[in-house]
Amino acid sequence: MRILTGIQPSGILHVGNYFGAIHPFVESQGDGQPFAFIADYHALTQLPEPDGLREMVTGVAVDWLACGVDPQKTVFFRQSDVPEVVELMWILCSQVPVGLLERCTSYKDKVAQGITANFGLFSYPVLMAADILLYKSNLVPVGRDQKQHLEITRDIAIRFNNQYGEILVVPEARIRDGVAVVPGIDGQKMSKSYDNTINLFGAEKALRKRIMSTVTDSTPMEEPMDPASCNVMALYKLFADDAEVAALSERYAANDFGYGHAKQAVFEKSWEYFRPMRQRRDELLANLDHVNDVLHDGAERARAVAAETMDEVRAAIGLR
Ligand code: ADP
Ligand code: TRP
Repeated sequence: MRILTGIQPSGILHVGNYFGAIHPFVESQGDGQPFAFIADYHALTQLPEPDGLREMVTGVAVDWLACGVDPQKTVFFRQSDVPEVVELMWILCSQVPVGLLERCTSYKDKVAQGITANFGLFSYPVLMAADILLYKSNLVPVGRDQKQHLEITRDIAIRFNNQYGEILVVPEARIRDGVAVVPGIDGQKMSKSYDNTINLFGAEKALRKRIMSTVTDSTPMEEPMDPASCNVMALYKLFADDAEVAALSERYAANDFGYGHAKQAVFEKSWEYFRPMRQRRDELLANLDHVNDVLHDGAERARAVAAETMDEVRAAIGLR
C-alpha cells in the first residue's frame, strides 16, 4: 500500500508543524510504502524569490530528515525532480471542468484575502491530483483543510478511468483528526500567520524568551492555578509523560509555584525533547551533499514508478 505525503516548503518549522504533521509521519513509516515529497512546483504559485525557494527546499529536507524521516523506509524526494508530474497534470487538465476548480474553498479563500490569483493557484488542485495519481497512491494523510483537494483527486481519477479504463488508483484520504491542535504562546492555534509560534530549531536564548512570554491568566503565586485551563500546561503535555504531567499539575496548587516556574519547565522539557533532532540537524547542515544524495536517490525511485504510470497513461489516451 502506497502512502503519499506532500510537504509545502513554507519556511521555518514550528512545534505545531512537528506534532501536527512531522511526528505522525515519522511514526507511521513502518506502515505500507511511504512516499514523501517537497512540493516546490506548488510553491511557485506564491512567486518565491529563486534563491529563497532553493534554500527553503533544502531547509525542509534537512529538518524532516533531522526529525526522523528514514530514507531506507521512505522514498523522500523533491517534486520537481520528477517533471512527469507536470505532464500528467496537463493531461488531467483537459478532463477537469473549470466549475470544479472554481468551487475550491482554498482558492476562494485566497482570492477573498485579496491575493491576485495566477493560473497556477487556480490549477493547484490538478497538480496535487497529478502528484497523488502519478505514484498510484492508495492513502494520503492530510489536514482537514486539504480534504476537498482529495475529493477532487478522486473525482478526476474516476472520470479518467471511466473514459480510458482502470489505469489510475482512486486514493483514500486519511484526515489527521486524531492529532490535537497545538496552541501557540497566545492560546490560539499555533500558526506562522498569528506570530505565536515556538520554532522547532530556534536558538536557546530566543526559545527560552519566547516560551517565557506564553500568555496566562493573572493568578498570583500564592493562589493555586488551574492546570486544566492553562496554556503553559497544554504545551508541557506535548513533551512530558503522564507521570511528569501529574507531578507538575500537583505543583500548580503550591503557594510557592507560579507560571514563571511552569514556563521554565516547558522550556527545559522541550529543549531536551528536541536535543537529538538538533544534533542530527547540525550534522546534516554540515553535510548538505548527503542531503542532496538522499533527495536524488529518492527521485530516482519515484521516477521509476512515475515512468510506468506515464507509459500506461500515454498509451491509453493516444499519445503513443
Ligand atoms: P501554519 O499554520 O503555520 O501556516 P502550515 O499550514 O504550513 O502551518 O502547516 C503545515 C502542517 O502542519 C499541516 O499539516 C498542518 O496541519 C500542521 N500544523 C500547523 N499548525 C498546527 C498546529 N497548531 N497544530 C497541529 N498541526 C499543525
Ligand atoms: N497542498 C498540500 C498542503 O498544502 C501539499 C501537497 C501538494 C500535497 N501535493 C500534495 C499533500 C499531494 C498531499 C498529496 O499541505
